[in-house]
Amino acid sequence: MTDVTTLPREEETSAEESCARAPVGLLAELTHRCPLQCPYCSNPVDLERVNTELSTEEWQSVMRQAAELGILQIHLSGGEPTARRDLEAIIETAAEVGLYTNLITAGVLLTKERLAKLQEAGLDHVQLSIQDVDPENADRIGAYKGGAKKKHEVAKWVRELDMPLTVNAPLHRQNIDNLPAIIDYAVEVGAGRLEVAHIQYYAWALKNRAALMPTEEAFSKTVEIVKEAKERLKGILVIDFVVPDYYAKYPKPCMGGWGRGIINVTPSGRVLPCHASESLPGLQFDNVKERPLADIWLNGQAFEIYRGTDWMKEPCKSCPRKEIDFGGCRCQAYALTGDATNTDPACSLSPLHENWAKVAQEESHKAAPEFVYRRMGKTQVTVNK
Ligand code: SF4
Ligand code: FES
Repeated sequence: MTDVTTLPREEETSAEESCARAPVGLLAELTHRCPLQCPYCSNPVDLERVNTELSTEEWQSVMRQAAELGILQIHLSGGEPTARRDLEAIIETAAEVGLYTNLITAGVLLTKERLAKLQEAGLDHVQLSIQDVDPENADRIGAYKGGAKKKHEVAKWVRELDMPLTVNAPLHRQNIDNLPAIIDYAVEVGAGRLEVAHIQYYAWALKNRAALMPTEEAFSKTVEIVKEAKERLKGILVIDFVVPDYYAKYPKPCMGGWGRGIINVTPSGRVLPCHASESLPGLQFDNVKERPLADIWLNGQAFEIYRGTDWMKEPCKSCPRKEIDFGGCRCQAYALTGDATNTDPACSLSPLHENWAKVAQEESHKAAPEFVYRRMGKTQVTVNK
């Protein structure tokens, strides 16, 4: 096996060398359990059950292996990671082996005491998701009564404990008009960073695309609002802005390129190149219970298959951007074209782009349909306002 401690990092390698590079981050999906039901959830359509989740010791082993592999950051995610009672123990191990820990949370299960305990265990950073600044609309979107009020409290606790805070605000047609207020909210709660991420339409979000898709005009307005706010809030708030693929000219390099910088571990220990990759056919996923993390990263079939650029077809194959965006998103290419090796239709050079972009124009100008919500084990439809 390659000595993982000497692997170079992303900026030191080309796409061809990417098989021998250390990943930067590991997304640890500690559980798929979640009290909210966001209609744009990026977890797979089929969620993993609680009785299949890795044990405390198994997650601690993942943390140790991640550090050995050269990973720098652990993103503790879900579902809702605070639903795990052993979160403190997992964080403690991660901190012991020198990993930077980021808790990605909806916040609603936290108390200030628990947050203090997590900090004591070594938690470095909190990323809190919000659905909207209008409490009624926020609670409707997440299907969780009282959620918005609780999140506001959690944001304040994070700052009272002097921890760095990022507010994450997924943006779509049912909260897009509140973007200026969302920016004010982030400043008011003392966040150092705000992620304004237009919804990406994979997994559950694809089921709700028509209910979530903003018009191109509304999207363009958000570009201007963010530009102005970035300038005005220099030194106070960093704003990360993710545009919707449907209105972009080129796709984004999904996951920073397949198998280049990120590893995703599911609640049951399956190791994925991206959170949605289980939707693709022909991939063999290894489990941390059966194979060392480093070996999976370096040699796992699911990582090798779309790593680098050799797998590409035209127009990507001869495109000067192929090492910039890596052909876009494999999961989106498969979901929309039936072939994961096709160019992501988000790219204006894809022969399918025009028809695909039309869908967004059409859907966004029709009345929004009801959200399709889900619960573990059942799909639930709730009426929009
Ligand atoms: Fe990117 Fe492929 Fe489009 Fe070129 S053709 S811009 S590599 S997605
Ligand atoms: Fe899987 Fe983009 S979501 S590659």
